Amino acid sequence: MDARALKIEAARVALGYVEDGARLGIGTGSTAEEFVRLLAEKVAGGLKVIGVPTSERTAALCVELGVPLSTLDETPELDLTIDGADEIDPQLSLIKGGGGALLREKIVAAASSKMIVIADQSKMVETLGKFPLPIEVNKFGLKATELAIAAVATELGLSGPLTLRMTNGTPFVTDGGHFILDASFGRIPDPRALSNGLFAVPGVVEHGLFLGLAQAAIIASADGVRTVHATR
Ligand code: A5P
Repeated sequence: MDARALKIEAARVALGYVEDGARLGIGTGSTAEEFVRLLAEKVAGGLKVIGVPTSERTAALCVELGVPLSTLDETPELDLTIDGADEIDPQLSLIKGGGGALLREKIVAAASSKMIVIADQSKMVETLGKFPLPIEVNKFGLKATELAIAAVATELGLSGPLTLRMTNGTPFVTDGGHFILDASFGRIPDPRALSNGLFAVPGVVEHGLFLGLAQAAIIASADGVRTVHATR
């Protein structure tokens, strides 16, 4: 099975959790897009949902495929969010933001009664950190923010380059109008401590550590699809 087929399998199982009438947070990324495609088929068949997209990119796909949308302002409490992830550890702590949508993704997930992550087996890790941690930062004072983040990392015994994310030769700008620094710290043994440290830096808008948000992860591998539940 190729990677896309695995993403489709995970998305298909996740669709089973979507009840008629659901207020649904809809994630961003290639796995979430497979979910949108399957969801659109169900909607065409009569399923009633109202979706809140986590990015302009996801919103555009939903509009194209006929998935009804709302905004988080109109629909501030959601029943379920389904989204992908860049890394998932056994406690269902996540790294997200590879697609640059981490801020809206986290706001939407936090507004949801339940978050289910969909992924292929390659996203499962024992310890977070091989995937560079996306940190969304205000454009103002970028260099000072970078130095402050590096100081937080050093304090926690972490080190590694902070790389300004670029696209077509210019800095990538998020839907919220911010930059992203990708932090290649390697293994992050204490994600909570890093999260707290990053939030103490004024220029940090949000970071891609999603801790205590996912209740379940639907993981597809060549051996089949399994659902991992958070134990907290
Ligand atoms: C988007 O900002 C990310 O958080 C995605 O959810 C994450 O990068 C997973 O994307 P893929 O499903 O494309 O791997």
